[in-house]
Amino acid sequence: MTIAVTGATGQLGRLVVERLTSKVDADGIVALARSPDKAADLGVAVRAFDYARSGALAPALAGVDTLLLVSSNAIGQRTAQHRNVIAAAKEAGIGRIVYTSLLHADTSPLDLAAEHRETEAALAAAGVPVTILRNGWYTENYLGAVRGALANGVLIGSAGGARIASAARADYAEAAAVVLTGPGHEGRTYELAGDLAWTLTDLAAELSRQSGQEIAYENLPAADYAAALRRAGMPDDLAAAIAGWDVAASNGALFDDGRQLSMLIGRPTTPLPNTVAAAIA
Ligand SMILES: NC(=O)c1ccc[n+]([C@@H]2O[C@H](COP(=O)([O-])OP(=O)(O)OC[C@H]3O[C@@H](n4cnc5c(N)ncnc54)[C@H](OP(=O)(O)O)[C@@H]3O)[C@@H](O)[C@H]2O)c1
Repeated sequence: MTIAVTGATGQLGRLVVERLTSKVDADGIVALARSPDKAADLGVAVRAFDYARSGALAPALAGVDTLLLVSSNAIGQRTAQHRNVIAAAKEAGIGRIVYTSLLHADTSPLDLAAEHRETEAALAAAGVPVTILRNGWYTENYLGAVRGALANGVLIGSAGGARIASAARADYAEAAAVVLTGPGHEGRTYELAGDLAWTLTDLAAELSRQSGQEIAYENLPAADYAAALRRAGMPDDLAAAIAGWDVAASNGALFDDGRQLSMLIGRPTTPLPNTVAAAIA
């Protein structure tokens, strides 16, 4: 039984490989990396694997039974890249593909959802057994905002009172390791989110509590939030995207209370204060 993980040099992929090594023999794990040198410290076999190099993908999957396809971070190119991987997995005779999608990808108001919907459709069309992990937001996505808030004494955003059911990357990584190594996940789609939802006002209060500084949440129109992010040095496109994701959050994009993540990992998800504490430290 050989399990391969794409994007193994990324923040999530690394954690998945680490969690896998605690569950199965390292000989049965393959790290797939666009830059293999960056994966040399993982302690498992490494193979070159660039989603954009379609001709080289199937040979790199030789002997792999189960593949974790970690979604690419090349927004706008992801559907084409993922289709390359799915075609190669089919050609290589992979037994199951596990894919990291997006929370409620089928209905999500996030602009990011389209490429995940397209990938899920490509997976269904390929006829290979699949497990879909529809990952919610990482709590770590807010660490940049935390640094800004600590520096400026105010947390800004456009999410209003949106409930954000985030979890730590390590929680999603553990879930991936569980479905890669355990039985009964074939054909399943999991909506993965944190147990306890919070608002940006809650985050500001938690920051105040842990830092001893008074930090309030200031809700801004999306255009003003994007402008503030640009003034802080963020590229135009990213600033507009982040403000848009807050607006989508206020329309429910980041909320789920099904607790499928904690059920999969067999423990509560990492609470917000723990991730804030790690950031402040
Ligand atoms: N749920 C969330 O809150 C959230 C937030 C951000 C992103 N995401 C999605 O979840 C994925 C994993 O998150 P993450 O935090 O681990 O992201 P990350 O740290 O940016 O890692 C992305 C990984 O994708 C790899 N990659 C990019 N282009 C590739 C290509 N052409 N061929 C092969 N590998 C390629 C990168 O390789 P290199 O090391 O060579 O760059 C890296 O290993 C992201 O890629 C994105 O799709 C989710």
